[in-house]
Amino acid sequence: MKFYIETYGCQMNIYDSEIICSILLKSGFIKTSNLKKADIILLNTCSIREKPEKKIFNRFLKIKCFKKTNKKLKLGIVGCLATHYKKKLFEKFKFIDLIVGPDSYKKLPEMINKLKNNNKEIDVSLANKERYTKIIPNRGRNGISAFLSIIRGCDKMCTFCIVPYSRGREKSRNPNSILKECKLLYKKGYKEIILLGQNVDAYFWKKMKFFQLLELIAKTVPLMRIRFLTSYPSNITKNLLKVVKKYSNICKHFHLPLQSGSTRILSLMRRKYTVEEFLLIIKRIKKILPDCSISSDIMTGFCTETQADHRETIRIMNLIKFNFSFMFKYSSRQGTYAYRKLKDNVPNSLKISRLNEIIMLQKSHSFYRLKQNIGKIQEVLIEGISKKDEKYYYGRNSNNDIIVFPKNKSKIGSYKKVKIINSTFTTLIGEIIP
Ligand code: 5AD
Repeated sequence: MKFYIETYGCQMNIYDSEIICSILLKSGFIKTSNLKKADIILLNTCSIREKPEKKIFNRFLKIKCFKKTNKKLKLGIVGCLATHYKKKLFEKFKFIDLIVGPDSYKKLPEMINKLKNNNKEIDVSLANKERYTKIIPNRGRNGISAFLSIIRGCDKMCTFCIVPYSRGREKSRNPNSILKECKLLYKKGYKEIILLGQNVDAYFWKKMKFFQLLELIAKTVPLMRIRFLTSYPSNITKNLLKVVKKYSNICKHFHLPLQSGSTRILSLMRRKYTVEEFLLIIKRIKKILPDCSISSDIMTGFCTETQADHRETIRIMNLIKFNFSFMFKYSSRQGTYAYRKLKDNVPNSLKISRLNEIIMLQKSHSFYRLKQNIGKIQEVLIEGISKKDEKYYYGRNSNNDIIVFPKNKSKIGSYKKVKIINSTFTTLIGEIIP
């Protein structure tokens, strides 16, 4: 039986799709990258905001058409929309055959086999605290950089966020299995490990905290680059910063979602820091790691956000000048505290105009930060051929900036010293130092 999988949403979902592939391949299923040849199509979905959700619903309808020409074709919805809507998805989209949540992927082979008799199958339980410790993902990316999940789920209960409901509560993974997989990745020729978690810095296993795990990993695979995301601002400790500083193979970059620059809004969001505390965290990071880059997530138009709150966000962005940010307009998600108790009262047009304003501002900050690299010589891991010009490679520096440069006989997957000579709004341009 052939399966085809399509992935939406965050890195954790990409990782989960790799887990799913591994489980299905082991059970004798065959992976196809041609949707038309598939017996079952799996969509690994995201429910974090309304916009990606709408996109996925449209995709459902497209696949419904494929079912008309291939009567045996089955459609499975896995991931966060599965746990978000549960069996309601069957009611809304009658052509869906299978619904499986993020903690039940081990049951996929058995459930898919049962579909033969035109059954519908569903498992959206989050009760079993699944960590997929023993499953080596079928990594289908570039063979250079590998995702590795160290903690699943979230306990933070931010009032806007669906994650604790769609992915369950925090569950850290046994460090031995993490280290074993790091060694395996090194053996396989991978050059970089990106540790994943909704809050990596909440990692906790018996007495081991994130900074200790990170140090162990950095020592275990000293020739590999280590990245990690996402960090929860108030979990950043001095110990963590010291470890990041001590090991040259740990990349100097934090993804630190601010969400809003207004303490009043942060408190309504139930974020565990004030704006002043966030600024202090940035200060502490920059004191120990002056060349560290910081990226963020920011939302506009959260419940009751006033023009004054929005101006505060602008002010804080101007103070920090993030290297990069993902920016969104708030959309109310059913099941969250904000959905139940707070008023989603910022008009959509205002959410959008505020969003456009911060996007423009961030663009200028990203450009400002990128330009600071000009003239420097940086170590770049070559990840692939530039999409715009095949005579160029692209890679990343420790700060996670993308750099393009003439190939100059170098190889994908190697580290090169690159001199930065120029910058666009999004990308650095360099040349390899012979
Ligand atoms: N509306 C808009 N953005 C959201 N995010 C999370 N929930 C919502 C929501 N309901 C954003 C946050 C988070 C990122 C992953 O998605 O900024 O950090």
